[in-house]
Amino acid sequence: MTASLATVSYIGATILFILSLGGLSNPETARRGNLFGMIGMAVAVLATVFGPRVTPAGIPWIVGALVAGGAVGLVAAKKVQMTQMPELVALMHSLVGLAACLVGYASYVDTSIAFEGAEKAIHEVEIYVGILIGAVTFSGSIVAFGKLSGRIGGKPLLLPGRHWLNLAGLLIVIWFGRAFLHAESIPAGMTPLIVMTVIALLFGVHMVMAIGGADMPVVVSMLNSYSGWAAAATGFMLSNDLLIVVGALVGSSGAILSYIMCRAMNRNFISVIAGGFGTGGGAPAPAAGGAQPAGEVTPISAAETAEMLREAKNVVIVPGYGMAVAQAQHTVYEITKLLREKGVDVRFGIHPVAGRMPGHMNVLLAEAKVPYDIVLEMDEINEDFPDTDVAMVIGANDIVNPAAQDDPSSPIAGMPVLEVWKARHSIVMKRSMASGYAGVDNPLFYKDNNRMLFGDAKKMLDEVLAALKA
Ligand code: TAP
Repeated sequence: MTASLATVSYIGATILFILSLGGLSNPETARRGNLFGMIGMAVAVLATVFGPRVTPAGIPWIVGALVAGGAVGLVAAKKVQMTQMPELVALMHSLVGLAACLVGYASYVDTSIAFEGAEKAIHEVEIYVGILIGAVTFSGSIVAFGKLSGRIGGKPLLLPGRHWLNLAGLLIVIWFGRAFLHAESIPAGMTPLIVMTVIALLFGVHMVMAIGGADMPVVVSMLNSYSGWAAAATGFMLSNDLLIVVGALVGSSGAILSYIMCRAMNRNFISVIAGGFGTGGGAPAPAAGGAQPAGEVTPISAAETAEMLREAKNVVIVPGYGMAVAQAQHTVYEITKLLREKGVDVRFGIHPVAGRMPGHMNVLLAEAKVPYDIVLEMDEINEDFPDTDVAMVIGANDIVNPAAQDDPSSPIAGMPVLEVWKARHSIVMKRSMASGYAGVDNPLFYKDNNRMLFGDAKKMLDEVLAALKA
């Protein structure tokens, strides 16, 4: 392939990636967006492998690596549960970081292209910064994977004087950067490079260890952004324009997503990065002492739930993490279809951080073929709750917690929530009185107009469906 054809292919791939990101912004166009991304990536890989910079002798190596990497990716994608997706994503980010580090070291010891003067300095800065970002992304993502998969506790690790430690690390990295740029030979430059890599790895671990469980979604999206910048840095090291553009696209979209998620959780981005907030995920509700649960809950049966739904004029369903775990989305759709046939107006209210990853609920509902026009964002549906007969909460907890509005001392105070308690009746479907991801008690359960339908979401919804059909 000639150099100009490779350039044209890269431009085509870039356009496809931009179209892909545009498509992913809406559930209706997400499939098409994914397809654009897949075609763009195929074009990019082919143009690189058969481009002017790969010699025929290198092709068997690349094909071997593609087959091995592709096989691991295929098995991982087939095996992973939807609820484990953030862990897989964190693991993949770590690979981008590792790749940036390895490419950095390889570029440094590669003497086939001789850089001189200012070009040499620029190339070395690219290597230094690329390895720095790559190492932070690598170790940070490994710790994020450990936390999300429960291998490492969710409690934030707060070392004394941690901000000073970070600052000292930064100063040492700058100092060694100077030594690296002034190194006379490659072996002499290796020492500052290795010292910086070790500090960057430790910084990545420290940064994510200091972040509490409840803020982990933001961290994953932030590491997504870092992995984009690491890829862009790799692009600079390899003088590959496509990698620079794609890295910048991932880097900036990840940063925007982190910002949006911070707003959805009412977190300040800087305070999330600085760490210290949040508790372990899924802890049981606080028992005696401390924030004592207020009052008693009123249970309801599946048959009574069906009766209440049948008599309602309008129903809003609020799905959460528990619906995903129970894989209840198909039964939810069956119930929706049946109620709509009986003339009940059924809509869905989706919180921006419902479940465990951005768009989690939208993906599940789309998979179950729930029509997009009845799936509304939190801001679109919140003011309709006072006119809603039944709000049915399926395996959600934090996202419907009134304490976020009423209790300034609550760890989730200020987080925007779906105001289901304003409906005439609310029904919360979950297995026990355990708390949600943020580990806080939920006063919604004790409200007079609330009923608790205890049990696995899929099992209980099957019973509700059977009762509706009867
Ligand atoms: P949660 O607050 O985690 O509550 C989920 C509830 O589902 C739990 O209280 C649990 O109660 C119930 N549940 C679990 N398995 C169930 C099953 N098989 N059947 C029925 N119920 C089941 O979820 P949410 O309301 O969706 O809120 C999301 C939380 O996750 C937020 O705190 C958010 O910040 C955080 N988070 C979000 C993301 C993104 S980006 N979406 C990523 C990571 C974390 P029982 O154990 O009693 O059943």
